[in-house]
Amino acid sequence: MTKQTYFEAARVENYAVGAFNVNTYDEMMGVSDAAAKIGAPVVLMASMSSARFIGLNDFVMLAKSMSRRFSIPVYAHLDHCTHQELLLECARAGFDSVMFDGSHLPYEENLSATKKLAEQCHDMGVLLEGELGVIAGEEGAVRSSFSSFTDARMASHFARESGVDALAVSIGNAHGFYKGKAQLQFDLLDDIVANCDAPIVLHGGTGIPGEDILRAVKAGVVKVNVGTELRAAYLKSLREYAALHPQDGDVRDFTKFLREQLSETASRYLEWFNFKGRLDN
Ligand code: 13P
Repeated sequence: MTKQTYFEAARVENYAVGAFNVNTYDEMMGVSDAAAKIGAPVVLMASMSSARFIGLNDFVMLAKSMSRRFSIPVYAHLDHCTHQELLLECARAGFDSVMFDGSHLPYEENLSATKKLAEQCHDMGVLLEGELGVIAGEEGAVRSSFSSFTDARMASHFARESGVDALAVSIGNAHGFYKGKAQLQFDLLDDIVANCDAPIVLHGGTGIPGEDILRAVKAGVVKVNVGTELRAAYLKSLREYAALHPQDGDVRDFTKFLREQLSETASRYLEWFNFKGRLDN
């Protein structure tokens, strides 16, 4: 019998795993601390540039170390990768899951590249997340000035044919801070969930109202990605600490303050991912 993936475990129990973009050890500590407070598994995500910045092996090692330190499952994930070679390098380095973002390619090209990568990753015991539909905004080196919603019938075909372990969709979500209120298309999400075999991932978590995130999770979203808000909290903490201690700052005192702020930020999101209410439906 094959082991249940973390995507499937979340689907069975109707919660979403929190997935946070991180660039530093302190972000990893803050996020893991927040997840440990509710005993939830958590995903640490590296963009292509942060994977190179931190180092592929170090990223994997740090996720494992967080898992031991906080006694929760902590997964290392490569986010929005458009470089197939880097994706395979991360898989070889021991990432638990990787995302191939072929959403800007024509459908058939996206499908054939994703399918091939899914097979290669599965041979290494690594999960593959694919994407169908274009999510507006900027995430690492991947940016789009427009969005194009995921088509539910195509999502069903794509998931079946590619063999992805999870599928990121575009349903009104966007990367970065939303200009107005995020307008998630819940009918479209229901249609996708009803037709698609693969567990569904929601990107662009920053700024989506908590009630809407919870509604999306209850409708079947199994992983929610959050990046911008954590980066903003990091810089805000830096400025606040510097303002409070213009002359007498202490590195460890600052680091403690920073981790607490990051943990609080991650906790605010984790609250809406239905982990506490799982299995209640
Ligand atoms: P935000 O930066 O909008 O939270 O999105 C993060 C994301 O979706 C990473 O893939």
